[in-house]
Amino acid sequence: MRIVLVGPPGAGKGTQAAYLAHNLSIPHISTGDLFRANMSQGTDLGKQARAYIDAGQLVPDEVTIGMAKDRMSQPDAVNGFLLDGFPRNVGQAEALDVMLKDEGVKLDAVLDLEVPEEEVVKRIAGRRVCRRDSAHVFHLSYSPPKTEGVCDACGGELYQRHDDSEETVRTRLEVYHTQTEPIIDYYRAQGLVVTISALGEVADVTARAMAALKPSD
Ligand code: AP5
Ligand code: ZN
Repeated sequence: MRIVLVGPPGAGKGTQAAYLAHNLSIPHISTGDLFRANMSQGTDLGKQARAYIDAGQLVPDEVTIGMAKDRMSQPDAVNGFLLDGFPRNVGQAEALDVMLKDEGVKLDAVLDLEVPEEEVVKRIAGRRVCRRDSAHVFHLSYSPPKTEGVCDACGGELYQRHDDSEETVRTRLEVYHTQTEPIIDYYRAQGLVVTISALGEVADVTARAMAALKPSD
C-alpha cells in the first residue's frame, strides 16, 4: 500500500506510523526523521535544513522533494510506503503525483489524524525523543520511560526536541493550518482522504487507523 499520513504537529503521526508500517509491512518514511538524522550527522543537507526546522518553518521544497524522492526510490519502498510529514504543502503533493505517475503507481489512501489543538500542545510539551534513534519516542505522562531520561528501547539519552519550545510550536501550528491543511482538500478531490480521531490510547488509534485503511469490498 502507498499511504500518506497527515495531521498537526504532535498528533501522533510518528507513533502511529511505527505500528502501521509494521502491520502493513511497508517502510515508514518520515521527512522530519530524515532531516534530524542529517542534522545529527552534520551533512550539508542537515546544515541547510537546521535554521528552518529550529524556526518551525518548512524546509524549502527544492531540498525536501529531492530528499523524499531519493528515499522513496530505495529498494524497500518499491511495493509501498507510509509517508509521514511529506507532502506538507500543495507543491510537494503535486511533485509526489508526478513521481508516482512516472512509476505508474497510485496512492491508496491519505490518513488524516484529527486532534484538538489543546491536546497537541500537551503531547508536544511532554514529548522526549531518543538521541540514538528518533523513532524511539516517549511522553513524560502518557508513555514515560522506565528510567527517567533513558530510552527503554536502546539505552540512549532522551532529550526534548529544539523545535518543541512553546514559541516554535505556535509557529509550526500556524504553518500547518496555512500550508499543510490545503493538501487535505487537494487529496479529498481525488477521493483519497480518510479521517480518524487520534484521541485515546495509542493502540485504539492504531486499530481505528487499520479499520479505516481496510480496502472496501
Ligand atoms: P516532523 O518531525 O514531521 O514534525 P511534525 O509534523 O511537527 O510532527 P511531530 O514529529 O511534532 O509529531 P507527530 O505527529 O509525529 O507526533 P508523535 O508521534 O511524536 O517535522 C519537523 C520539522 O521538519 C518541520 O517543522 C519542518 O521544519 C521540517 N520538515 C519535515 N518534513 C517537511 C516537509 N515535507 N517539507 C518541509 N519541511 C519539512 O507524538 C507526539 C507526542 O505525543 C509523543 O510524546 C507521543 O509519545 C505522544 N502520543 C502519541 N500518541 C498519543 C496518544 N494516543 N495518547 C497520548 N500520547 C500520545
Ligand atoms: Zn532509543
